[in-house]
Amino acid sequence: MPVPDYTNCMDTKLIKIKNINDKTEYEEAASLLRDGQVVGMPTETVYGLAGNAYSEDAVKRIFEAKGRPSDNPLIVHISEFSDIYDLVKEVPEKAKLLADKFWPGPLTVILKKSDKVPFAVTGGLDTVAVRCPSHPIARSLIKFSGLPLAAPSANLSGMPSPTTAQHVLSDLNGRIPLIIDGGECEEGVESTVITLATEVPKLLRPGNVTLKRLREVLGEVDVDKAVLKPLAHGEKVSSPGMKYKHYSPKAEIIILKGSYNNFKEYVNKNSNQDTYAMIFKNEGDGLNVPFIEYGDIENYRGLSHGLFGALRRLDELGAEKCFVRCPDESNEDNLAVLNRLLRAAAFKVIEI
Ligand code: TXA
Ligand code: MG
Repeated sequence: MPVPDYTNCMDTKLIKIKNINDKTEYEEAASLLRDGQVVGMPTETVYGLAGNAYSEDAVKRIFEAKGRPSDNPLIVHISEFSDIYDLVKEVPEKAKLLADKFWPGPLTVILKKSDKVPFAVTGGLDTVAVRCPSHPIARSLIKFSGLPLAAPSANLSGMPSPTTAQHVLSDLNGRIPLIIDGGECEEGVESTVITLATEVPKLLRPGNVTLKRLREVLGEVDVDKAVLKPLAHGEKVSSPGMKYKHYSPKAEIIILKGSYNNFKEYVNKNSNQDTYAMIFKNEGDGLNVPFIEYGDIENYRGLSHGLFGALRRLDELGAEKCFVRCPDESNEDNLAVLNRLLRAAAFKVIEI
């Protein structure tokens, strides 16, 4: 879908919530949502672009503001587990187990949709993705607006997901009326997406509810092959989002697999003026190019927290190319960061 140029069509207002539980502070956002408008909201993963999930107009506005292809379905956000019954045909035992363990939190569950959910939300699919976020502002906004909120990440389609209100503003200024600024997102990568609409539950998008933790609750969990591999031409996808280019800054991203010493040597040899490096915390010794640290090598949540901000920073700096240190692939907890990095790099990986 071509992205219409809305720049400065409307003023995008940024507000802060002082008292999380004060309903009156949400009134402006809630009344926009009830009117079928869209609002940028913080969640614990990334910022979302929220609209009334029951309103086809609101959903259309979400797709337009992001320039998102209309066959890529949206996640519906709820504030209490019991809200799920309106959205899905039935709630299987496995969904209850997952919700018990991980909700509110960064896990999205896919189930057969109810008739109330418009096909505009699900990209024409007969399933719907549901998530109960833990961020107190997101939960209050859902509660006080009285609506289930369809919300994709609040970036322009193809850009890295926003982890600050400034990121949202930089992508969507003039295209949406309001953003609630809730500071930096804690997790930094989008929620884990698992489908329960298949016989064996299947992980479609890794996130910080890790595969190991899902298996502890469910037993067998398959992993969709698109998680770590590019799709072959014409291959059918389980999750439409996987077929689109994602998370990419303008700079060319190249992942280098190997030790820090090999990384340093390779980068110093293969760089020019506009080359940068993305490295782990406390590295950088002997590196002859400017670098950005994206997190601690030992801590997958620290890496995910810094990842998208670091990718966006490259664009601000005018980087043309960036070599990135590869997180440890043998550690399954790094799956989410690895998955986002591989897409940002269009699967360009060099063994060094
Ligand atoms: O953390 C998150 O999940 C954030 C925050 C805002 O909640 N949202 C988010 O939404 O990342 P979005 O739209 O950027 O990503 C949703 C992903 C897409 O890859 C989409 O294809 C997939 O979930 N998805 C949604 N509904 C689906 C369905 N019914 N079947 C398969 N995949 C689905
Ligand atoms: Mg997204």
